[in-house]
Amino acid sequence: MTDPVEPGAPANPVINVDGKAIEARPGEMIIAAAERGGVYIPRFCWHPRMKPVGMCRMCLVEVNGPRGMALMPACYVPVSDGQEIVTTSDKVKKAQDGVLEFLLINHPLDCPVCDRGGECPLQDQTFAFGPGESRFVEEKRHWQKPIPINNLVALDRERCIQCARCTRFAEEVAGDPFIDFIGRSDHTEVNTFPGESFESNFSANIVQICPVGALTSTPYRFKARPWDLEVVESTCTACAVGCRMAVQSSQDRLIRHLGIDSEPVNHGWLCDKGRFGYEAVVSEERLTQPLVRKGDELIETSWHEALKTAADGLRRVQELNGSTAVAILGGARLANEDAYAWSKLARTVLGTDNVDCQMGDGLPAEVVLGLPRATIDEVCSADVVLLVAPDIKEELPVFYLRLRAAAIDRKVALVELAPQPTALTEHAVVSLLHRPGEAAAAARKLVSAVLGRKPSSGGGVKGDEIAAAAELLAGKRVVVVLGRPSLAEPADGTTEAAAVLAANIPGLRFLSALRRGNVHGALDMGLAPGVLPGRVSLDDGRAWFQSAWGADLPGRRGLDAHAILAAAATNQVQGLVLIGANPMADFPDRTLARRGLAGVGFTVVVDTFLTDSAIHADVVLPAATYAERPGTTTNMEGRVTRLGQKVTAPGTARPDWMIATELASLLGGDLGFESIDGIATEIERVAPAYAGVNPARLAKRENRDGFVVPLAEPHQEPEPPEVAFPPQESIVDVGDVSDPMESIEVNAAEAQGETLLPRSEPDAGPVGAPESIGDLTASDGSSLAPTIPLISFAGVEPMPAPHAPDAYSLRLVTSRSLYDAGALVQHSESLKPLATVTRIRACARDLSRLAVRPGDLVRVSSSRAALVLEAALDDRVPRGSAVIDFNQPGDGAADLVDVNAQVTDVRIENVKRPSARKASDG
Ligand code: SF4
Ligand code: SF4
Ligand code: FES
Repeated sequence: MTDPVEPGAPANPVINVDGKAIEARPGEMIIAAAERGGVYIPRFCWHPRMKPVGMCRMCLVEVNGPRGMALMPACYVPVSDGQEIVTTSDKVKKAQDGVLEFLLINHPLDCPVCDRGGECPLQDQTFAFGPGESRFVEEKRHWQKPIPINNLVALDRERCIQCARCTRFAEEVAGDPFIDFIGRSDHTEVNTFPGESFESNFSANIVQICPVGALTSTPYRFKARPWDLEVVESTCTACAVGCRMAVQSSQDRLIRHLGIDSEPVNHGWLCDKGRFGYEAVVSEERLTQPLVRKGDELIETSWHEALKTAADGLRRVQELNGSTAVAILGGARLANEDAYAWSKLARTVLGTDNVDCQMGDGLPAEVVLGLPRATIDEVCSADVVLLVAPDIKEELPVFYLRLRAAAIDRKVALVELAPQPTALTEHAVVSLLHRPGEAAAAARKLVSAVLGRKPSSGGGVKGDEIAAAAELLAGKRVVVVLGRPSLAEPADGTTEAAAVLAANIPGLRFLSALRRGNVHGALDMGLAPGVLPGRVSLDDGRAWFQSAWGADLPGRRGLDAHAILAAAATNQVQGLVLIGANPMADFPDRTLARRGLAGVGFTVVVDTFLTDSAIHADVVLPAATYAERPGTTTNMEGRVTRLGQKVTAPGTARPDWMIATELASLLGGDLGFESIDGIATEIERVAPAYAGVNPARLAKRENRDGFVVPLAEPHQEPEPPEVAFPPQESIVDVGDVSDPMESIEVNAAEAQGETLLPRSEPDAGPVGAPESIGDLTASDGSSLAPTIPLISFAGVEPMPAPHAPDAYSLRLVTSRSLYDAGALVQHSESLKPLATVTRIRACARDLSRLAVRPGDLVRVSSSRAALVLEAALDDRVPRGSAVIDFNQPGDGAADLVDVNAQVTDVRIENVKRPSARKASDG
């Protein structure tokens, strides 16, 4: 596919490859244009997502130039109109023979024991293009093998063909240049710097792109051969980016994830957490049987008894205390269909609107659903991106790669408004570091300056910094990436900042930076108080859903997670269902979470592990997780994609939708579901923002990257933005699909990203744009929802400024790091050691003012608790603040945070006597 040519614009260059005319793109390399035109040129060093280096010479072809036809590297020579290229001549064949013979001089040829054997580009290209035999019989080079370059990646240097894919990925793509070439001539080796390891959240991408078996992933080494593997295409649900990946299994057991090149989302990359998170799925600690409480113990039982106990307990609460005494927390780790089932059960059977898929660590549903939205591509092609978010590298890692590339390659200006520096600070043009709890004050000053008033300081940000940011923002296409920069303060400050920005900067769009896997799908399915499936409010959607569901809905808006736990702490919520939720780990205030869980009379937990919150439950039901059930998921952009099922759930674990359906039936209700396909069809029919989203359309090959909802008018987003984003394409072609929910099988080589083009074409125009759905008829022929206004964000009342901290306190900032005490990391053998110990970090001046030295044990106290932690020096932390990573193993930030306070101040006192410190230092 080529870009449409504007009338009057110069035509695209046309090249001639082996006698075939191919329309190329200006500036494109011959290798890419030829491949799009169906001519494959062998390569090792070239990778479509990295800059060419012309290192390996495998791609030599004949190109006509001033001196006639000459051998040139196709990956390094740009196309020009009328260029003649020959890829099959004797001269080219001789060059290919020579390059391969040369590369194999030192290659150990240990293919039978190499992980790459069977899916190795060197093997394949030697077979397809090589000489057949070698003239070199000398002793080969030998290195110690393998050597670990970090916890996850091993290096066999003698297999390396020095293509520099790994070194370029580390430097260009990840920005972690900790692997490089060392030595010269035939002593050249790829390695980390002496004594250093390859510290990167993205390290195993180099395993996937290495064209030989020089780099292998430690968890996968010697586990399987490629021909043993079964593979299905799916979406990673470890965070809300929604990277497309190939899920591979052997003997009904997950064994590997590989990134798939999705143009609008992940460009083929995965973070290490997403890549190795399958270890948690195959963990021996998974729940496999239902449990019910007998006295102090949870005892294994049958599904029938467990479900009956759950239904009896919830019914008793309903009868004694009313439906408002029942609540459901969680759902952001489920598939859309599961979340929809729980949402329907809550409203139609339990009669409660006390539902929340967020654990008090996100943003109000109205903010996420109601602000004009942007896609990842729109963020990466904006003039300015305003980051009001946590550290994207830690919470939404592959989105960080996209943002970093946008800042470096496309010169997108990043402006940061945050309480602490992040990994993107070094790429930000302006970084506005506000005092914790004062984001709204800083946003007001920024807006005022953008509107032309004299810049002045606010929220701890200096006037000249405000002026610099305002100059960048004024009159530009701006997208805000909006998340929760610190969990030590409520969401109100961020919400107010968003409201101020949205109300005053015309055409502003927002991309949500909430992190949990399917939090956006769960919100879309109505797992938030006052929200019904399809992004409509309880009040606006009541009449339609009462008729569609055939049941009365709760009369008024219910409670969010904070209010549910507070009500439970005072025994007003007496029945609680936790669906993949662990408030003890995820709610920012562990004191309130503990009191809430203790105050609930009857708790049902549906989960994959026995979490800290589950151990006090009355009934525990084992759930199937991703790769064990099909369905759909919705990423941070609102992009709906399919989840592939590859393996069987352990023991008797079941998908959530089945559990919800059976529980509803035992409670005297009927959700009306018999299959996941049936739920998907019902969502399409009743949920306004999901009109037109059906299994058949998602199963179409051209829709493998999914699509952003809502799809078409009249189900449009509120307030069309004035900003001139690229025009949106209409791409409808709904054909028959025989088995819509059948998993998309992917070729293993395709999954490896080798020898293949990216699935969608770079620079092929806006992706993820709404498509026209033509008419309002669901795939099953029934009518779709009538026009109901989608939720819009009405703004918030301004909050008073937080009190000034006293001279002895520091203001706490806490946000997540990639590896934490969450279930996925803690149950993944390879990832668990990467979670760090909890430390409190502050700058040198604050530490010295408090007479604390780095490494000292300090007593950290807040209004909630006092802990002993290790102090660490971090000069990036602004003066007056202290930072603790959220949810690391052991006691930590959640013990200190008071969610009722505007900010959390902490006092730090040294608990080590100077003499004791001296002794230990010595
Ligand atoms: Fe290339 Fe692999 Fe060697 Fe890196 S280790 S230079 S990716 S062959
Ligand atoms: Fe998975 Fe998120 Fe990592 Fe992508 S960035 S691989 S979705 S955890
Ligand atoms: Fe072109 Fe390596 S020189 S692929």
